[in-house]
Amino acid sequence: MSQLFWNVLLVAAATLPGVATAGGPSTCQVIAAQMPDRVIFPSDSAYNVAQSSYYAGQARDMQPGCIFMPRTTDEVSRFIKTAGPRNGPDAKFAVRGGGHTLWKGAANIDGGITVDMRLINGTVLNADRSIASLGAGGRFGDVYHSLKPLNLTVLGGRVPSIGVGGFLTSGGMTFLSRRYGFACDSVKGYEVVLASGKVITVTQASYPDLWLALKGGTNNFGIVTRFDVKTYASDGMWYDLVQYNYTESVLQAQATELSRFMKPGAGFDPDAMMGFFFDYAGGQFFLRNALWHTGGVRNPPVYKPFTEIPNFGSSGQLLPVADVVDTFGANIPPSTPRAYQLDWSFINPPAKVYMDLFKIHQDGIKALAAKNIDGIFVEFLTQPQAVIPRGTPSLFGLQTGRTDYVMMLMTAAYANAADDAVVIEGINAIVQAQKKLLRNKGYLIDFVYANYADKSQGVYQSWGFENVAKLRAASRKYDPLGVFQKKVTGGLKVFF
Ligand SMILES: Cc1cc2nc3c(=O)[nH]c(=O)nc-3n(C[C@H](O)[C@H](O)[C@H](O)COP(=O)(O)OP(=O)(O)OC[C@H]3O[C@@H](n4cnc5c(N)ncnc54)[C@H](O)[C@@H]3O)c2cc1C
Ligand SMILES: *[C@@H]1O[C@H](CO)[C@@H](O)[C@H](O)[C@H]1NC(C)=O
Ligand SMILES: *[C@@H]1O[C@H](CO)[C@@H](O)[C@H](O)[C@H]1NC(C)=O
Ligand SMILES: *[C@@H]1O[C@H](CO)[C@@H](O)[C@H](O)[C@H]1NC(C)=O
Repeated sequence: MSQLFWNVLLVAAATLPGVATAGGPSTCQVIAAQMPDRVIFPSDSAYNVAQSSYYAGQARDMQPGCIFMPRTTDEVSRFIKTAGPRNGPDAKFAVRGGGHTLWKGAANIDGGITVDMRLINGTVLNADRSIASLGAGGRFGDVYHSLKPLNLTVLGGRVPSIGVGGFLTSGGMTFLSRRYGFACDSVKGYEVVLASGKVITVTQASYPDLWLALKGGTNNFGIVTRFDVKTYASDGMWYDLVQYNYTESVLQAQATELSRFMKPGAGFDPDAMMGFFFDYAGGQFFLRNALWHTGGVRNPPVYKPFTEIPNFGSSGQLLPVADVVDTFGANIPPSTPRAYQLDWSFINPPAKVYMDLFKIHQDGIKALAAKNIDGIFVEFLTQPQAVIPRGTPSLFGLQTGRTDYVMMLMTAAYANAADDAVVIEGINAIVQAQKKLLRNKGYLIDFVYANYADKSQGVYQSWGFENVAKLRAASRKYDPLGVFQKKVTGGLKVFF
């Protein structure tokens, strides 16, 4: 038995990049010796299962030397105490939550170790049910379903498979974000394993600087094992997905109504979160509005102007949040072979500017489509941004209480790595032209939203010098040796 076990390890060690070869066991082997059931090697069938569960092909392409799947906070601590002080590429590691980041290396690694948090999941309510403690490796579909019988919800993702860990450490745009801000604004406490292996509970009272830094700081400060988030009463929300013909007049009406919807003032409805999808798939454009409303009413009046644009009919329903997420998620591909995504934000402009942005998209996509990219699917989403409640501490460099920030994101999904360069060039050209127009007219803002950004966009830079300084100060204080900068090389880094 043990003979076979070691042979398997040696075969794995010999064929893997980054595993220590100059004598001595690799970091994977040392961790496996300490916690035998927690480490998965490439020869194990569980390795391929874990690898294939990333959302994007770019993440699946990476080959960690092993995957560490802790079940407890203590195991995460033991891991860091062992891997942290070791040198060499085999001791580098990545932190993985739901694995939904599209770009390469955010949550997986070549050689090294992927710390896969998915077995640390679960939702536990406190005595008065005001706080839900979420395991960092959970998925929002499970979180919503466990809260559904109590008519409670939390600020989470809009697709069931999104991970708690990445979503809450990067922001979080959700149904309730017009009322309560980004999902990270609803986090009261974090349980974190620091680079030293020390486990601390971070609240605004106990560690105010780290508490703030974790609201966007992803994997720069430690491994979060638990999030304590506020719960909200919810016994049903409105969800409608309305599809339109792709015509000039629909686009024009959409531009007019978006500009009106986003205008600050009496018409602002904090329960209304929507998204306008101007997508391209199978050689055709599609126009759809996803209309969400958390006020518990049917056919909310705020959406009337959008449902009055000629369309293929309403499917609107009042549903528990868990069911809205399942239903909406069923419209989104469950994974993608390749993907490239950019986001940008601006202040609500007049209808004419929306129309110009739509035209740039339409012309740019036609040019890209002429290049015959296998499986090309482009999602272009315009959505209201989260409204951070007035006075809330935040590192995003946005004005709190402001209701007229708009976010756009463009995501291209396609079949083959051979088309990477063409797709990236084509999407960049479209988005650059759109941003240029917005900048010239004075509407563009610097803020880049981490959860939908490509690494190339300079997310932390966009939050402003003072906020970057706070992130860096927290890194120096809580990780003085820079373990999460030097050994966790993937993801967004505060020392860029
Ligand atoms: C289909 C789809 C739908 C989406 N819908 C939404 C949406 O409605 N709203 C929205 O805002 N975003 C949305 N996103 C974006 C999504 O929120 C981000 O991709 C998010 O980061 C995913 O979290 P994850 O845990 O699945 O990702 P991962 O890729 O596993 O992690 C993301 C980053 O966080 C770090 N990280 C993860 N867990 C921890 C931890 N415990 N401690 C420290 N660092 C950690 C990782 O190292 C990585 O760098 C969507 C994405 C997809 C693909
Ligand atoms: C959640 O964790 C438990 C073990 O702690 C595991 O059995 C279960 O499969 C996990 N759920 C997911 C979706 O990974
Ligand atoms: C949840 O809401 C539904 C619909 O309003 C109601 O019928 C049910 O009794 C509520 N359940 C609880 C536990 O409050
Ligand atoms: C969509 O366009 C077709 C073709 O012009 C037309 O017959 C149909 O009525 C339109 N439907 C809607 C909902 O606008």
